[in-house]
Amino acid sequence: MPAISASAPGKIILFGEHAVVYGQPAIAAPVSKLRARAVVMPDVHAPAGRIWIQAPDIGLEANLEDLPADHPLALTVRLVLAELGIAKPPAFCIRVSSSIPLAAGMGSGAAVAVAMMRASAAFLGKRLPNERVSALAYEVEKLHHGTPSGIDNSVVSYEKPIYYQRGQPIQIMRVSRPFTVIIADTGIPSPTAQAVGDVRRVWSAQPERYETWFNHIGEISRKARGLIEAGEIEVLGPLMDENHALLQNIGVSSPELDRLVKAARQAGALGAKLSGGGRGGNMIALVAPEMGQVVAQALRAEGAVQAFLTEIHQPQEAAPDGY
Ligand code: PMV
Repeated sequence: MPAISASAPGKIILFGEHAVVYGQPAIAAPVSKLRARAVVMPDVHAPAGRIWIQAPDIGLEANLEDLPADHPLALTVRLVLAELGIAKPPAFCIRVSSSIPLAAGMGSGAAVAVAMMRASAAFLGKRLPNERVSALAYEVEKLHHGTPSGIDNSVVSYEKPIYYQRGQPIQIMRVSRPFTVIIADTGIPSPTAQAVGDVRRVWSAQPERYETWFNHIGEISRKARGLIEAGEIEVLGPLMDENHALLQNIGVSSPELDRLVKAARQAGALGAKLSGGGRGGNMIALVAPEMGQVVAQALRAEGAVQAFLTEIHQPQEAAPDGY
């Protein structure tokens, strides 16, 4: 059996994070140049059933059997075996690596799970449809997020811009006119579970206050969808600003994120906001393509550890299979 590899992209949330956990719609897009990759090789010297997991990025090298049930990489492999009904697979080694920053609101956990699932299923001679990959990755997301909305596993599995509302089928979005977004990293790791948990606590204490903000964010996502589908990109900028102000109210921004958002606007971005769980991690800024480098430079000067451009465009017709 030859080695088999698969990959999955990072992602950004354009509108609607946090409110999406409470049933409001949100919009997310893949970032295809940042990827998690998994390679599976047969281990001809090991007894059947032995699965060796290597994740050099996090210093992990272990036998699946020795990892606890709540270890995300172990759960990922166990879910695939259960899905395929395989109790004792031929021995293999799965090696995972990723260029998606960890705990930065870019979906690295979901991308690692999706890449591992596709590679191990393919090694076992099966192909999992995107829908199943997404559903299984959701189970892994629960370990990272506590109460995930399901948006990360969906956008990463389908690798297309999506309009997502909890409990409803995902909707692939039409992007009439491509647009450019800068992604800038505060360099501050921020586990999503913590931000999501904190929001849950303040929401339970004052549900009406927070739900007003969540509803407002939902309205913004609905409007943004119409604008993206109609190609009216410039108007998205003010909506990003409005979304960021609401995220500040909810308590998930931080001085570093606010500083980068302000710097982007001052340097000529059409709008800017935090993206993902917040508190640290990444922010995004909408820019006219010719302003991209100027704004990226301003963000680096303001302390961003990384700032790069990505284009949000109409998804390809053929579903990328990630292999
Ligand atoms: O993984 P992150 O940091 O992009 O967060 C996902 C977005 C949240 O709305 C904060 C959580 C969720 O499950 O939707």
